[in-house]
Amino acid sequence: MRVDYFLFWSWKLNLAIRAPQLLAVFVTVTLLGLVAFAATRPEDATQVGSVDESGFGNSQNSDPGSSKSGSSKSGEPAYVGRQVCAECHRENFEQHAKHGHAMTFHHVPETDLANRLAGQIVDGGEGFGSYHYRQGDDGELFAQLPELSELSELPIEYALGSGHNAQTFLTLRESANADSLGLEHRVSLYPGDRLAITVGHENKTANSLLESYGSTVHGETVDRCVYCHTTTAQITGNRIDNLVANVNCEKCHGPGSEHVALARQSATPPPYSVGKADWDVESELQLCGDCHRLPQGLSKSELREYPDNAVRFQPVGLLRSACYLKSGRQLRCSTCHNPHVSTHGVSKADHIANCVSCHDESIEKHTICPVNATSGCIECHMPAIDQKQGIKFHDHWIRVREND
Ligand code: HEC
Ligand code: HEC
Ligand code: HEC
Ligand code: HEC
Ligand code: HEC
Ligand code: HEC
Ligand code: HEC
Repeated sequence: MRVDYFLFWSWKLNLAIRAPQLLAVFVTVTLLGLVAFAATRPEDATQVGSVDESGFGNSQNSDPGSSKSGSSKSGEPAYVGRQVCAECHRENFEQHAKHGHAMTFHHVPETDLANRLAGQIVDGGEGFGSYHYRQGDDGELFAQLPELSELSELPIEYALGSGHNAQTFLTLRESANADSLGLEHRVSLYPGDRLAITVGHENKTANSLLESYGSTVHGETVDRCVYCHTTTAQITGNRIDNLVANVNCEKCHGPGSEHVALARQSATPPPYSVGKADWDVESELQLCGDCHRLPQGLSKSELREYPDNAVRFQPVGLLRSACYLKSGRQLRCSTCHNPHVSTHGVSKADHIANCVSCHDESIEKHTICPVNATSGCIECHMPAIDQKQGIKFHDHWIRVREND
């Protein structure tokens, strides 16, 4: 997990020799996606926080499949599912199963949500009325607005988020044109089965019966919302086809059929995807930043002002940290996060060990903290910043802060 940034050049050499064709294809596809998105991105921040309580509102590229295909023109590998990976990569599989990535998207009738939430009533605030939750015969969950009309109810089809911070409900509707149409509910579920207003919806108003339940999200905004929370999905009208929920192995590694076939023939299959030897910092930032957001996804004013909710976008902070800029750009997400292991079980000591791998008192050329060289690094240099509804994110802009 630790990277010695003084090994930069030996590592570069390694990449030059080993960089496989597939990685090049993958990176190219990702970069093309980014270029396309950079060309169409909105200039201002007005939408941030308005669509997704995570502030992912002004989202990115329009084709939900664009950066996940990973398939070579000749072979066209297909998706095989994470259970197949488990056969040979048991440890990665078990780690990933406990990660937020493995629970970011839920088809509500297949969960116990209806049972848990039936009978609850939530005040939607002025102009909205009270939502009543009802369980259907087959485990479906409905939101009702009896004050508005006795007949008014909306099925809650999907819930996004692991629930560690929140789960937000999404209902898909047929739209008048070919664009996808979704309804992001005004009420989300917070830890402890607490239903409350979705972050970002505080100041919204309703302009139609549908909007009495929340905000409508159209076209690429809803496509992208589903894209970031699933492995494969195709929205057609009010259905999702080819749904593989959650951010699974093949979302990051690409479709695996070819690798599996080759691995069954040989114990040393050729390189398939991102692996330790061939994997470079920029590609990794593109991969994680595709969903966790890159600076290109923020408006100029947000980048300038770096408001508190910008800490949700870890790559944005990391890219402006001296640790990244002055280490020969050796600092990457996987320096501190095994991509398969949830942060929620990682000890404070392990986090400090990551910092100390580059800020080690016993190594003369390292820069050492004059305040505390052995502990408390995260609280002082990457503090957790409060968002609404009790959610906190750690500021990945690692720096000396004014009030330290
Ligand atoms: C039949 C066994 C088998 C199956 C099934 C399998 N792998 Fe592998 N995989 C291997 C072997 C063997 C290696 C090479 C040795 C190593 O690094 O462990 C490997 C290497 C890898 C690597 C390391 C870097 C690289 O690109 O070569 C990744 C990533 C990977 N597998 C991902 C997956 C994913 C994702 C799946 C499911 C889609 C999967 N594997 C299914 C056997 C398998
Ligand atoms: C396809 C989109 C996507 C990609 C790619 C992605 N993430 Fe995530 N990530 C998510 C979503 C969605 C969540 C929210 C999970 C939840 O609801 O708690 C998340 C949550 C996390 C968390 C917090 C949850 C936990 O259990 O620790 C970490 C850490 C994380 N991602 C790291 C990474 C890293 C590192 C990479 C790149 C190697 C990456 N992610 C790539 C979508 C993505
Ligand atoms: C650009 C990719 C992207 C888009 C688009 C996106 N999300 Fe997310 N979402 C994420 C990531 C990444 C996280 C994890 C945030 C973290 O832990 O840092 C997340 C977290 C969440 C969470 C967990 C609570 C929280 O605040 O962390 C919910 C709920 C959620 N998203 C719902 C939605 C809904 C609903 C939409 C669409 C209307 C949407 N998201 C659009 C990437 C995305
Ligand atoms: C969020 C993106 C992401 C997801 C999801 C993901 N991986 Fe990985 N995986 C990576 C990255 C990035 C690396 C390279 C890590 C590094 O360089 O330290 C990697 C490395 C690997 C490796 C080689 C190194 C090792 O840890 O053994 C294997 C094998 C692997 N992944 C298998 C899987 C399997 C199996 C799953 C699903 C159970 C999975 N991955 C899910 C991003 C991901
Ligand atoms: C990959 C190596 C690496 C890792 C890991 C790393 N840093 Fe750094 N960090 C650096 C380098 C290089 C600098 C620039 C030092 C200099 O200017 O001499 C730096 C600078 C800093 C600074 C000064 C920032 C400024 O704006 O002047 C702080 C504070 C800091 N690091 C804290 C941390 C903490 C806390 C962690 C762990 C969460 C961490 N670093 C992890 C390499 C790293
Ligand atoms: C220098 C170490 C370091 C690096 C590099 C790093 N993180 Fe983190 N990250 C942390 C620490 C420490 C936490 C807080 C963990 C906890 O909750 O105890 C964290 C938490 C997170 C979380 C959970 C939500 C939050 O903000 O608290 C996500 C998601 C995440 N990181 C994603 C990323 C991504 C994506 C990258 C690469 C762009 C990255 N991190 C790079 C140290 C790092
Ligand atoms: C109580 C808060 C606190 C704790 C705990 C703390 N730091 Fe610092 N750190 C500071 C302050 C304040 C400065 C600026 C000191 C100055 O400029 O005189 C600083 C400066 C630094 C610098 C820049 C030093 C330089 O010469 O430019 C680095 C690197 C650093 N800290 C890393 C760390 C690491 C790694 C840890 C954990 C092992 C850590 N800090 C723990 C508050 C803290």
